[in-house]
Amino acid sequence: MRHFLIDTDTASDDAVALVMALNYPAVKIEAITLVAGNVSLAQGLQNALYTIELCGQKIPTYNGAAQPLLRPLKTAQVVHGQDGMGDIGLELSGRQADKGNAIDVIIDTIKAFPYELELVTLGPLTNIALALAKAPEIAPLVKQCTIMGGIGKGHGNITPVSEFNIWVDPEAARMVFDSGMKMKMVGWDISRNHACIDEALSEEIRNIGTPLATFCMDIQNVVKNFATTTSKLPGFDLPDPIAMAIALDSNVATLTEELYVEVIIADGLTRGQTVVDHTGVLQKTPNMEVVFEASREQFLAMLKAAVK
Ligand code: RIB
Ligand code: CA
Repeated sequence: MRHFLIDTDTASDDAVALVMALNYPAVKIEAITLVAGNVSLAQGLQNALYTIELCGQKIPTYNGAAQPLLRPLKTAQVVHGQDGMGDIGLELSGRQADKGNAIDVIIDTIKAFPYELELVTLGPLTNIALALAKAPEIAPLVKQCTIMGGIGKGHGNITPVSEFNIWVDPEAARMVFDSGMKMKMVGWDISRNHACIDEALSEEIRNIGTPLATFCMDIQNVVKNFATTTSKLPGFDLPDPIAMAIALDSNVATLTEELYVEVIIADGLTRGQTVVDHTGVLQKTPNMEVVFEASREQFLAMLKAAVK
C-alpha cells in the first residue's frame, strides 16, 4: 500500500486530480490539506469535501493557510468560476473539516510514514513551506514530492514567464525548492502540451455516463472558456490531473532531467518565475526532477479509468 498526502487549492482541475487519486488502486490517501489559491481556503475546503463525498469516501481533511506567507492572496476565480467549480450550482457548503491544522498534519504524517510518504501539491506551496519551517527534519523523510507548478520549458499562464501556483506564493516556493526534499516538478507546459481536452474528447468522457464522468467535465464550465480565449488552447487543460497521473504512475512522465531550478522572488513580470538551469551553467547541485514530456495516452487512460 502506498501512502499519499495531497495539498490542494481545490478548484475544477484539482477536483479531477482528487478523483484520480481517490480511485487509484493500492494508494491510501492519509490526508488532504487545503491551501488558499484558486479560491479562498473556505471555498477550497467545500470543493474538496464535495468531491471526496461524490467518490463515496471519507478522507481526513484539514484547513491550512488562508493566505500566502507574505503577500495578499490573489485567487483565480476568473479562470475556474466564483465557486472554483464552474459555477454550475453545486451544493458546495455546509461540510466540515477535521479538527487539526494542516501544517501539523503534514509534519505528523511524514513522520508517521518515514521514507514512504508521497506528497502531491496541487496549489501554492504555503502549507509545505510552513511545515518545513516548523520541522526542517521532515525534508529527507519524504519519499517524493510531486509539485504541479512552474514551467519546465515554455511560457507561463499568469505572466509570460510564471505559473500560477508558484506566482501566488513565490517565497513559499523558494523555501520548498531549497529544502532538499526529493521533488518532481510538473510544470504548466506539461498540461498545455499533453493534457488539453477539446469539446469532442470532453463529450467522449462525459458519455462514459457515470456521475463522476459528468461531474469532472461539467465543472470545467468556466475554465473551458478561459483556456480557449485567454490561453489560446484547443480546449480546457488539466494541469493538476496530469501532475497527479505522474505522481500515481511515474511512467506517465516520458522525459525528465535532474536540474537546478530557482524561484524568482520579485514583483512584476518575473514574480514566481522558475528558472531551470538546463545546461548546468550555474554549477549548482540539481534540486528537482523536471518533467519535460509526458504520455497523453497514458494520462487519458488513467483519467477515464478513474471516472468509470
Ligand atoms: O497553473 C495551474 C495551477 O494553478 C493548477 O494547480 C490550478 O488548479 C491552479 O491552482
Ligand atoms: Ca490547483
